[in-house]
Amino acid sequence: MFRILLAAITLSFAGSVFAAGDATNGKVLFEKRDCLSCHGTEAFTSEDRKIKNLKALEVQVRLCDSNLNNNWFDEEIHDVVAYLNEQYYKFPEPAEAQ
Ligand code: HEC
Repeated sequence: MFRILLAAITLSFAGSVFAAGDATNGKVLFEKRDCLSCHGTEAFTSEDRKIKNLKALEVQVRLCDSNLNNNWFDEEIHDVVAYLNEQYYKFPEPAEAQ
Protein backbone atom coordinates (compact mmCIF):
# COMPACT_ATOMS: atom_id res chain seq x y z
CA MET A 1 0.00 0.00 0.00
CA PHE A 2 2.70 2.41 1.03
CA ARG A 3 4.63 1.68 -2.14
CA ILE A 4 1.62 2.33 -4.31
CA LEU A 5 1.09 5.63 -2.58
CA LEU A 6 4.72 6.54 -3.05
CA ALA A 7 4.57 5.64 -6.72
CA ALA A 8 1.48 7.78 -7.15
CA ILE A 9 3.16 10.74 -5.50
CA THR A 10 6.30 10.30 -7.57
CA LEU A 11 4.24 10.08 -10.73
CA SER A 12 2.23 13.17 -10.04
CA PHE A 13 5.39 15.05 -9.17
CA ALA A 14 7.03 13.96 -12.43
CA GLY A 15 3.85 14.99 -14.22
CA SER A 16 4.05 18.49 -12.88
CA VAL A 17 7.68 18.80 -13.91
CA PHE A 18 6.94 17.70 -17.45
CA ALA A 19 3.86 19.85 -17.71
CA ALA A 20 6.18 22.58 -18.92
CA GLY A 21 5.28 25.42 -16.60
CA ASP A 22 2.88 28.13 -15.64
CA ALA A 23 1.54 29.79 -18.77
CA THR A 24 0.11 32.75 -16.86
CA ASN A 25 3.48 33.62 -15.44
CA GLY A 26 5.02 32.93 -18.85
CA LYS A 27 2.76 35.53 -20.44
CA VAL A 28 3.91 38.15 -17.93
CA LEU A 29 7.58 37.32 -18.50
CA PHE A 30 7.14 37.27 -22.26
CA GLU A 31 5.46 40.67 -22.31
CA LYS A 32 7.79 42.32 -19.82
CA ARG A 33 11.11 41.19 -21.24
CA ASP A 34 11.28 42.61 -24.77
CA CYS A 35 10.56 39.35 -26.54
CA LEU A 36 8.85 41.27 -29.29
CA SER A 37 11.72 43.65 -29.97
CA CYS A 38 13.19 41.54 -32.83
CA HIS A 39 10.13 39.66 -34.11
CA GLY A 40 6.41 39.89 -33.59
CA THR A 41 4.08 37.07 -32.66
CA GLU A 42 3.63 36.34 -36.39
CA ALA A 43 6.95 34.46 -36.12
CA PHE A 44 5.02 31.92 -34.03
CA THR A 45 2.04 31.54 -36.31
CA SER A 46 3.55 31.89 -39.77
CA GLU A 47 3.20 28.99 -42.22
CA ASP A 48 6.95 28.55 -42.39
CA ARG A 49 7.71 28.80 -38.72
CA LYS A 50 10.69 26.67 -37.83
CA ILE A 51 9.68 25.23 -34.49
CA LYS A 52 8.08 21.82 -34.81
CA ASN A 53 7.96 20.43 -31.30
CA LEU A 54 8.11 21.36 -27.63
CA LYS A 55 11.79 20.50 -27.27
CA ALA A 56 12.73 22.77 -30.16
CA LEU A 57 10.55 25.50 -28.69
CA GLU A 58 12.43 25.31 -25.43
CA VAL A 59 15.78 25.44 -27.22
CA GLN A 60 14.69 28.51 -29.19
CA VAL A 61 13.35 30.30 -26.12
CA ARG A 62 16.71 29.70 -24.43
CA LEU A 63 18.56 31.07 -27.44
CA CYS A 64 16.38 34.15 -27.64
CA ASP A 65 16.59 34.62 -23.88
CA SER A 66 20.37 34.63 -24.08
CA ASN A 67 20.20 37.31 -26.77
CA LEU A 68 18.43 39.49 -24.27
CA ASN A 69 20.64 38.61 -21.32
CA ASN A 70 17.56 38.02 -19.20
CA ASN A 71 19.23 34.90 -17.84
CA TRP A 72 15.93 33.31 -17.03
CA PHE A 73 15.92 30.39 -14.65
CA ASP A 74 14.77 27.02 -15.96
CA GLU A 75 11.36 27.55 -14.39
CA GLU A 76 10.97 30.85 -16.19
CA ILE A 77 11.99 29.28 -19.49
CA HIS A 78 9.40 26.55 -18.88
CA ASP A 79 6.73 29.12 -18.05
CA VAL A 80 7.36 31.02 -21.28
CA VAL A 81 7.42 27.77 -23.26
CA ALA A 82 4.08 26.84 -21.67
CA TYR A 83 2.63 30.22 -22.58
CA LEU A 84 3.85 30.16 -26.19
CA ASN A 85 2.65 26.61 -26.59
CA GLU A 86 -0.77 27.31 -25.14
CA GLN A 87 -1.21 30.50 -27.12
CA TYR A 88 0.43 29.71 -30.45
CA TYR A 89 2.07 26.36 -31.04
CA LYS A 90 -0.35 23.94 -29.40
CA PHE A 91 2.00 20.95 -29.39
CA PRO A 92 0.83 18.02 -27.32
CA GLU A 93 2.30 18.06 -23.81
CA PRO A 94 4.94 15.33 -23.33
CA ALA A 95 2.61 13.25 -21.16
CA GLU A 96 -0.01 13.17 -23.93
CA ALA A 97 2.54 12.60 -26.65
CA GLN A 98 3.64 9.22 -25.33
C1 HEC B 1 17.88 39.80 -30.49
C2 HEC B 1 16.67 39.57 -31.27
C3 HEC B 1 15.63 38.62 -30.64
C4 HEC B 1 15.01 38.77 -29.44
C5 HEC B 1 15.17 39.89 -28.44
C6 HEC B 1 14.13 37.62 -29.29
N1 HEC B 1 14.20 36.83 -30.40
FE1 HEC B 1 13.11 35.16 -30.73
N2 HEC B 1 13.97 34.97 -32.55
C7 HEC B 1 14.97 35.80 -33.07
C8 HEC B 1 15.36 35.32 -34.37
C9 HEC B 1 16.42 35.95 -35.27
C10 HEC B 1 14.55 34.19 -34.64
C11 HEC B 1 14.56 33.32 -35.87
C12 HEC B 1 15.59 32.24 -35.69
C13 HEC B 1 15.68 31.41 -36.93
O1 HEC B 1 14.91 31.64 -37.86
O2 HEC B 1 16.51 30.49 -36.92
C14 HEC B 1 13.70 34.00 -33.48
C15 HEC B 1 12.76 32.98 -33.37
C16 HEC B 1 11.99 32.76 -32.26
C17 HEC B 1 11.06 31.66 -32.12
C18 HEC B 1 10.76 30.60 -33.17
C19 HEC B 1 9.79 31.06 -34.24
C20 HEC B 1 9.49 29.92 -35.17
O3 HEC B 1 10.10 29.86 -36.25
O4 HEC B 1 8.61 29.07 -34.84
C21 HEC B 1 10.52 31.75 -30.86
C22 HEC B 1 9.51 30.82 -30.23
C23 HEC B 1 11.11 32.91 -30.22
N3 HEC B 1 11.99 33.50 -31.12
C24 HEC B 1 10.84 33.33 -28.95
C25 HEC B 1 11.40 34.44 -28.34
C26 HEC B 1 11.20 34.79 -26.95
C27 HEC B 1 10.37 34.00 -25.96
C28 HEC B 1 11.90 35.94 -26.73
C29 HEC B 1 12.04 36.69 -25.40
C30 HEC B 1 12.85 35.95 -24.43
C31 HEC B 1 12.55 36.29 -27.99
N4 HEC B 1 12.23 35.35 -28.93
C32 HEC B 1 13.35 37.39 -28.18
C33 HEC B 1 15.48 36.91 -32.47
C34 HEC B 1 15.12 37.41 -31.23
